[in-house]
Amino acid sequence: MGRRGLRKIDPARDLAECLDELERVPQPLDAAEFFGHAAPLEVEMGSGKGLFLQAACEAHPERNFLGIEMARKYARFAAARLAKRELTNGKMIHGDGLRLFREHLTDASVAAVHVYFPDPWWKERHKKRRVMKPEFIEDIERVLIPGGTLHFWTDVEEYFETTLALIAVASSLEGPIEVAERPADHDLDYQTHFERRMRLHDLPVFRVQFRKPIAR
Ligand SMILES: C[S@@+](CC[C@H](N)C(=O)[O-])C[C@H]1O[C@@H](n2cnc3c(N)ncnc32)[C@H](O)[C@@H]1O
Repeated sequence: MGRRGLRKIDPARDLAECLDELERVPQPLDAAEFFGHAAPLEVEMGSGKGLFLQAACEAHPERNFLGIEMARKYARFAAARLAKRELTNGKMIHGDGLRLFREHLTDASVAAVHVYFPDPWWKERHKKRRVMKPEFIEDIERVLIPGGTLHFWTDVEEYFETTLALIAVASSLEGPIEVAERPADHDLDYQTHFERRMRLHDLPVFRVQFRKPIAR
């Protein structure tokens, strides 16, 4: 299934408030300063066209959402969604999410991490390029606050099972907690564009949530 072309971004749209380059993101990241106001921070790895980020920002104005996307055209597209709706609790970063987590995000600073439909890298010799690898799982656990959550969805059953096994050995995250499919109320009422695509083609989606234990 190929990806549909992107609609053109209005050239007059100012993305300055909604888009940054990873190189310009402070190390370490002080999210309250970065967003201009303090709020629980949620981070999405590989935002694609930014449907999740937009919907989450609209549904939860009391939270800040940071999306990171490696592909510049998608990062710009997702940022344009936020700018068009004048959402001040969402920002897109263009760059490598693995580096954002490793080099910028501090311990226990993130309330939720979202990873939706990461590239599957089907071929055996390419699987090392997958983002759900031990180093990233360790970083996810490190940056989450106690009680913070990881949300992982994919359409690839083998990637799903491999990741569950990895999380079990590489972290002390609690789960897996099953996540039920939600009926869509309208054409864009899906978690992400990839979920929409899979559901419209009647293909399965594997959804799971984990939680960082609260120290007793
Ligand atoms: C299959 S797409 C899914 C996009 C979106 N999450 C969705 O569900 O519609 C995966 C996205 O992750 C991005 N990506 C892959 N590796 C990344 C990385 N290390 N950092 C940031 N983005 C990454 C890709 O450029 C691609 O846009």
